[in-house]
Amino acid sequence: MQSLLKEQTSEKHRIAERKPFNLRMFKGELSGAEYLFYLEQQEAIFAALETTPLPYSGLNRLQAIQTDIEELVKKGYELKGVLPSTQAYSQYINELSLAEKQPHIYLHYLALIYGGQMMKSKVPSSGKMYEFNNMEECIQSIRRIQSDEWVNEVNKGYDHVIALFDELENTLFSKKTESYV
Ligand code: HEM
Repeated sequence: MQSLLKEQTSEKHRIAERKPFNLRMFKGELSGAEYLFYLEQQEAIFAALETTPLPYSGLNRLQAIQTDIEELVKKGYELKGVLPSTQAYSQYINELSLAEKQPHIYLHYLALIYGGQMMKSKVPSSGKMYEFNNMEECIQSIRRIQSDEWVNEVNKGYDHVIALFDELENTLFSKKTESYV
């Protein structure tokens, strides 16, 4: 049966999923440079999520994200740094207590576990970020703690993710237009 949490956050899931940057990623259309820029944002968000222990140690992503980043840097792509929307969201997460962080843990780890498995083959890197050992335990560790009371906080997390996808696309778009001037 579908949880109330999933039901009442599905509208924002749909919006996030359909953002142009995400759609391009899902269609395998991102360049190495664009994907590296996205990974830099993921690194900041997961660093904030992982300053406190996760429900299961196999969930930890920071090292895998850094491995993916190194792979692209070795290929010659340049680091661009963290966007203002990422800065705002990671700072927001950093100020939450362990219990208050949990809705954001649900949001980001299940995103990588579900949507991420379809994304792995589409991105221009080996995609270590999407590789989980003991996937079933990863899922169950989150399912055991999730609560329908998290609806507002998860929707707030989706708003940050949506703002980030918009900013990624706008930043890359304005760079492209500049280069044609
Ligand atoms: C192309 C992008 C995406 C695709 C194709 C996708 C696909 C899916 C699918 C099929 C599920 C359902 C799995 C199931 O119920 O068995 C799911 C669940 C989920 N996705 Fe996504 N997703 C995408 C992007 C995102 C993003 C950007 C986020 C947030 C950062 C996200 C967060 C979640 C969460 C939290 C769940 C778990 C919902 C629940 O069962 O409680 N997804 N996704």
